[in-house]
Amino acid sequence: MRMRFKPYARPELNACPFSVDNPLDNKGKWHQTFARPQQPVHLELGCGKEGFLSQLAVAHPDINYLGIDITDKVLILAKRNIDRQYQQENRQPDNVQIMSLDIERIYNAFSPADTVQRIYINFCNPWNKKSGHKKHRLTHTKQLLLYRQFLAEGGEVYFKTDDDDLFADSLHYFPEAGFDIVWKTFDLHKNEPEWNIRTEHENMFTEMGIPTKALIAVKRELTHSITVKKERAIIMDKQAIHTSHAPAAIGPYSQAVQAGNTLYVSGQIPIDPATGEFAGQDIATQTRQSLTNISNILKAAGADMSHVVKTTVLLKHIEDFAAMNAVYSEFFTEPYPTRAAFQAAALPKDALVEIECIAQLDE
Ligand SMILES: C[S@@+](CC[C@H](N)C(=O)[O-])C[C@H]1O[C@@H](n2cnc3c(N)ncnc32)[C@H](O)[C@@H]1O
Repeated sequence: MRMRFKPYARPELNACPFSVDNPLDNKGKWHQTFARPQQPVHLELGCGKEGFLSQLAVAHPDINYLGIDITDKVLILAKRNIDRQYQQENRQPDNVQIMSLDIERIYNAFSPADTVQRIYINFCNPWNKKSGHKKHRLTHTKQLLLYRQFLAEGGEVYFKTDDDDLFADSLHYFPEAGFDIVWKTFDLHKNEPEWNIRTEHENMFTEMGIPTKALIAVKRELTHSITVKKERAIIMDKQAIHTSHAPAAIGPYSQAVQAGNTLYVSGQIPIDPATGEFAGQDIATQTRQSLTNISNILKAAGADMSHVVKTTVLLKHIEDFAAMNAVYSEFFTEPYPTRAAFQAAALPKDALVEIECIAQLDE
């Protein structure tokens, strides 16, 4: 699937009261962000266009819902779906919020204080089918160990998929990560439970004659051989970072990659992610935008500019060095990162500046 850029999406999402602009700011405080903080919180991972969650949320005002997806392209449709559902009921959407977040790094936005009672994962396969794609599955042991951190004791995961291979492997992933599978089916629509709400992809695969596989797993105590060290090693594997607050990677590279505690941020040219255009035509504006993009990528990795240890600045004109430096100095405090600055023969899209960096993350 291609993540097409929708320039109108971010401003509309930013103006929407139930779309969370900076989910990392709410870490440990999610309950308080709702009108009725005492209610249980349920989470949908990879919510897509949100037909599922908007129906659930309207039907259960006594539960607070959070929907997460990585791309604005579907979140904007989710937002409109929720608006429509609540307008039909003549109610305010005060028990549902949506946000853009990479679920592989969900620990940056959720902590044990957030105690989620239930997680829904519906039809989420990693798009990348190359070798190693399995560890990007949202039900991979590595992921389930992350969800455990903020899932209440006895909290549940409801999982549905069309994919036989993913389902068979998930039957191992859940017990390995300390969950009991308390219910499962290889054909959900045979004796369909009354609680089931069919999702967009569920309808699509059903029309193709592919049965929906489903399970419910309950968090139990982690009693087997996954030690804290092993748990950490699994979690700290090499991971790509994604945020919609910086220009999307438009080639075979990631906005950033975390390897252990080190974060490598790709060269940022001064594209404003809200418009897809250069922020301005002068070196000061362009430097500010490149560094803002870097700052937003660091934020998605749970870091900030103080974590940067090394930068590289590429300039179209070395005469711009002083003007670049004036803006650059606003973004960093002592001890400053090391830096190399070059004049490059040419930069992508004829930018005046491109900046990359390396950051050291907290333990
Ligand atoms: C096939 S769609 C399913 C949508 C919906 N749940 C349904 O059943 O119709 C999978 C969704 O998961 C999202 N997704 C996959 N991996 C993700 C990740 N690591 N972080 C956030 N969203 C992710 C995709 O953007 C996509 O919208």
